[in-house]
Amino acid sequence: MKPVKLLAIDTSCDDTSAAVVENGRKMLSNVVSGQSEIHEKYGGIVPELASRRHVEIIWPTVDEALKKSNTSLNEIDAICVCYGPGLIGSLLVGTSFAKSLAYAADKPLIAVNHLEGHMFSPFLLADPENGQTPTLPFICLLVSGGHTSMYVVHEYGKYEELGRTRDDALGEAYDKVAKMLGLGYPGGPHIDRLAKKGDPKSINFPRPYLHGSFDFSFSGLKTAVRNFIKSQQKINSMEDICASFQKSAIDVILRKISNAIKTTGVHSISLVGGVAANSALRQQMDAQQKDENYTLFLPPLNLCTDNAAMIGACGYEHYKRGFFSSMALNPQAYLPL
Ligand code: KG4
Ligand code: ZN
Repeated sequence: MKPVKLLAIDTSCDDTSAAVVENGRKMLSNVVSGQSEIHEKYGGIVPELASRRHVEIIWPTVDEALKKSNTSLNEIDAICVCYGPGLIGSLLVGTSFAKSLAYAADKPLIAVNHLEGHMFSPFLLADPENGQTPTLPFICLLVSGGHTSMYVVHEYGKYEELGRTRDDALGEAYDKVAKMLGLGYPGGPHIDRLAKKGDPKSINFPRPYLHGSFDFSFSGLKTAVRNFIKSQQKINSMEDICASFQKSAIDVILRKISNAIKTTGVHSISLVGGVAANSALRQQMDAQQKDENYTLFLPPLNLCTDNAAMIGACGYEHYKRGFFSSMALNPQAYLPL
C-alpha cells in the first residue's frame, strides 16, 4: 500500500519547525529553526519577537523540510499543524500558514495538540522495521518548559491524567535557576552540562514529594536555590548548585514513577518533552528501569525538545481515523489534552 506522507508544522513557542513523516513512524525530514540567539539576551522568550521570526522563516523552513525529504507538495497526503497550547501569536503564524497552504494545494488539514504531539515522539523510529515503540498501556511523563504532567496512555485518544504541576513546570524551574546563575537561555542544557562537574550531595535542597499525590511542585525548590544563592557572598561553585538542584528534581521524578508503577500496575514508561533531553535524568531512569522492572521508552535528544516530526507522528493517528479540521481552525493558547 502507498505510504502516507504528512507535512507537519509546529510554531507553538520559539522554534519554527517543519517535517515530513511517513506512516507516522518514519521521519523523512525534521527541520527545526531555533531562535535562542534572539531571546537569550532577555533571559526568556519575548512573544512578539518570536511571532515575527516565525513569519520570516516559516516558508523557508517548510521548503527545506520538503526538499530534504525528496517530497513535492503534490505527494503530501495532508498538512498537520499544532494549534495549541502555546504562545498565541506564534501559534497564529503556524495555523494561518498551514490553512493557506492546505487551501491552495487542496490538501486536508489536521489540527494537533502540542502535548499529544510530545506524547507521540517515542513512536518515531530511526528504523521503523526494527525499533521498539511504547506498548499500550504506558505511563507518559511529559516534562517541558510549559508542562509537567503524568498520564496513563490507554490507547490513542484515551489519556488518564495521574498528576500535573501545581506551579512551575520543571523546564521553567531549570530556566529560572539558570537565569539566577547568569547562564543563558534556555537554561536546561547549561545546568545539565555544569551539573556533570558538580557534587549532587553538596547542598541539601528540598525534595517536594507531595506525598500521596502524583502532582508536582517545583517553585519551592526554585526559591530554595534563590535563597541559597542570596546567602552566599559570592557563588563558589555553580557546578555544585546545578548538580544539587538537579538531584532534588530527579529524586522527585524517580519516586513519582515508582509510585505510579505500583498504583497502576503499568510497566511501560515514556519520558517526553524538553527536559527528557537531560542526561542525568535519562541515565537515572535507565538505571531505575532495571531495579524496578519497567521498560523505558526515550525519544532521541532532537525529538525531546519542540519539533514538527512529533506533530506528524500524532497527526497520522488523526489521519487514519479521518479526523480532519475545517478552515475555521483557530489557535488556542490554553488547550487541555
Ligand atoms: O518541549 P520544549 O522544547 O518546549 C515546551 O513545550 O515547553 O521544552 C523546553 C524546555 C526548556 O525549559 C529547556 O530548558 C528544557 O526544556 N531543556 C532541558 C534540557 N534541554 C532542554 N532541561 C534540562 N536538561 C536539558 N538537557
Ligand atoms: Zn513542547
